[in-house]
Amino acid sequence: MRGSLASYLPRRLALLGGSTRWSDCAEALRYLSRPSQLVQGAKINEYEEAFAGTVGVKYAIGFASGRVGLYGLLRALGVDEGAEVLLSVPSHIVVANAIRYTGARPVYVDCRLEDYNIDLAEAERRITPRSRVLLLQHTFGVPVEMDTALAFARRHNLVVIEDCVHALGARYDGRPVGTFGHAAFFSTEETKTISTVMGGMAVTNDPQLASRMRTFQASCSLPRMSLSARYLMKFVVYYMLTEPYVHRFARVAYERLGHRNPLPVPTTLEERRGQRPRDYERRLSNGQAALGLSQLRSLQTNLQHREFVANAYEDRLSSCGLRLPRAPAKAEPSFVRYPVWVEDRPTVIRALAPHAVVGTWFTSVLEEAESPEAAGYAPGSCPHAEQAAQHLINLPTHSRVSERDVKMLATALTRAVSSKSASFKHRS
Ligand SMILES: Cc1ncc(COP(=O)(O)O)c(C=O)c1O
Repeated sequence: MRGSLASYLPRRLALLGGSTRWSDCAEALRYLSRPSQLVQGAKINEYEEAFAGTVGVKYAIGFASGRVGLYGLLRALGVDEGAEVLLSVPSHIVVANAIRYTGARPVYVDCRLEDYNIDLAEAERRITPRSRVLLLQHTFGVPVEMDTALAFARRHNLVVIEDCVHALGARYDGRPVGTFGHAAFFSTEETKTISTVMGGMAVTNDPQLASRMRTFQASCSLPRMSLSARYLMKFVVYYMLTEPYVHRFARVAYERLGHRNPLPVPTTLEERRGQRPRDYERRLSNGQAALGLSQLRSLQTNLQHREFVANAYEDRLSSCGLRLPRAPAKAEPSFVRYPVWVEDRPTVIRALAPHAVVGTWFTSVLEEAESPEAAGYAPGSCPHAEQAAQHLINLPTHSRVSERDVKMLATALTRAVSSKSASFKHRS
């Protein structure tokens, strides 16, 4: 809806549904009308090949979620009891869980405040003879400074796995993230750059690792047909409910549906407690693969839009003294969301609420954990991550964010932080 009338109508941006197009929904409806092809079919391989081609790797192997891809990679690399895996925080509890489920120990490393990626000086202090893997999380889609990180990994003889869950399409030194480490994994959960509602992909150039991952994939259970159908239905219904002109009014229905939602939540109670759920090792369905394939076709437009929106936020917000992300010199981020550090997060969220449901990744050093300590995190050990978990808000960058939305959000944010209590004056 464009033109003069539309420019006066109120809009509210949601966190989901932003990168979906009507053509993706048409694909979902096509699969809903062909139940025999919902779970298994040729789309899975086709999607895996297209994904590998997009990232620029030889092999891509699909799973029910990114976390299962990570777990499979660690197992296939022989990581088990006694091994240590270095990972940066803030991260997500399911990442720490994937490590712990193998018997290995997650070793938490603090982040740098300029990009929320790993602080390698801190990592150096946490190296032990048992350190095996360096997990590099490209947080919010800002690539890790790979030259230094890879040199660090070589020096300590560590296997590098990239966590590209936020970073599909990001580049470093002209190369896509996901191609630097021995392996990488991505997520297509509904809040990520593309959505299959839930879904993940493990990638590598190593044929032996890929073959072990295929064996692991074959051992994972197939999703039930009813679950696959409900994912596709959710994809279509939420696409409609999150349309910004509709969402302002549909938010109540959206939340009610969420509460009565017959779908499993992305992170189960067991996972939030650091326990291992039954039926953890699951595959992606054919219908979801068809959605992924459909969205990969418009990925370039999706990424260009995110870049445009992130630049527009930076232009409008850089003069207000807010701490905005600063990417390393050779990095070309693809912002899944745009993080902004604010002093008084609840006030800012309230101020922006009429225009957008503002993201709060991260609210904990291990997002969604009932208690990070249960996953072996020692309180006070990563002070930057702990501060970030108090102060970050994330602005939407998806395809439904218009220039006018950026202006509204930036204006509301600037107003909210102009009061002394809510502002953070960036001194460095
Ligand atoms: C940084 C990071 N890594 C991994 C994951 C797990 O991805 P998935 O939900 O597909 O398992 C998440 C989840 O949001 C995440 O934020």
